[in-house]
Amino acid sequence: MLKGKKIILGVTGSIAAYKAAILVRLLVKEGAEVKVIMTPLSREFITPLTLATLSKNPILVDFFDPEDGRWNSHVEIGIWADAYLIAPATANTLAKMAHGMADNLLLTTYLSARCPVLVAPAMDVDMFNHIATQENIRLLHSRGVHVIEPSSGELASGLEGKGRMQEPEVIVNSLKELFNKNLDTLGSKKKVRPLKVLVTAGPTYEPIDPVRFIGNYSSGKMGFAIAKAFAGQDHEVILITGPTSLDISHPKIRLIRVQTALQMHDACLEYFPSCDCAVLSAAVADYTPAVRAEQKIKRDKDYLHLELKANPDIASALGQMKTQKQVTVGFALETANERENAKQKLARKNLDFIVLNSLNEEGAGFNTDTNKVTFIDNHNKEIEFPLKGKEEVAQDILKKVYTYF
Ligand code: C5P
Repeated sequence: MLKGKKIILGVTGSIAAYKAAILVRLLVKEGAEVKVIMTPLSREFITPLTLATLSKNPILVDFFDPEDGRWNSHVEIGIWADAYLIAPATANTLAKMAHGMADNLLLTTYLSARCPVLVAPAMDVDMFNHIATQENIRLLHSRGVHVIEPSSGELASGLEGKGRMQEPEVIVNSLKELFNKNLDTLGSKKKVRPLKVLVTAGPTYEPIDPVRFIGNYSSGKMGFAIAKAFAGQDHEVILITGPTSLDISHPKIRLIRVQTALQMHDACLEYFPSCDCAVLSAAVADYTPAVRAEQKIKRDKDYLHLELKANPDIASALGQMKTQKQVTVGFALETANERENAKQKLARKNLDFIVLNSLNEEGAGFNTDTNKVTFIDNHNKEIEFPLKGKEEVAQDILKKVYTYF
């Protein structure tokens, strides 16, 4: 997919610069021709020799070659490239890009490039969350720069949070998608009228007694990313979530927190009639204890039998009540017979399409920042995607939903 493609890799001064070596190796392995531009500071994090050896091309840092005075033409490099990937992209470089500053070769090339530009931000959680950085990213995105959202986790600073550069494999997949017409079957985002979208997210907790519950490992990340994707396009979102540590504050998102499947069911039934679409990504417990013990259950016997009763199926309930104008989207997380089971769910729950993710895939499923999904719609059309960040999966879901409106 990347065979023969000319890629500029811009490397900036972040600790994540060491991942640039893996990126170059992956790109070269895919058959791409890679030229690396480094900012002066990035040389403190990874040596030009490493990247020159892996890319099989000299590294570009200065406007002039200090040895022979040869001009490193940013215009020529910018025109040469099929894509310009800046990974890692620091807060500093993103700010300069957003404001047209041009004090190094990486930036002058950005201003000259005619090809698609991708950035993979990498920084500390507070720098990433800072309104200045967020505004800069939004500005770049609105100008067509493709932002590969960082993931959450432990950062080099020791802090926890969002700001870790996406894994090189995910970045390469984003690049592939740019070039792959087959994968981009959903096309670019068409314009649709403002929609009202209901999104479910997270697990549900089914109480056993006052201090215990039956739950699952769902983090809510996928549902929150979907809510953000729709809100980002100015659609109104009702986000109904089970217990999660995530929070979101957006003028277009109304956040409703629930605990149990029954509470989620009731909230969905209340809001769905006024919605155009429901994306049901919550991992709803199928069963709940038949009775909730009034007092904490004592450990006074070797076996304890809990009687469980089925919870209502929210997706099916919405599928039954939906009008011809409403669209419902479900998820399937399967460990066996994935496609068959997903197709049965699609039909049983009267969904318009289902997002199949497999627990067998590394990096997909619960509590990860990435996901590998296949869309199956009720015309039996399937689209299989590579491993991506959940934000990007959310964009794909948004684009697929748009095809119904
Ligand atoms: O049947 P299964 O739980 O695998 O189906 C998954 C899909 O159905 C997801 O979209 C999930 O949100 C939805 N679901 C639901 N209510 C339930 C169980 C699942 O809406 N009680």
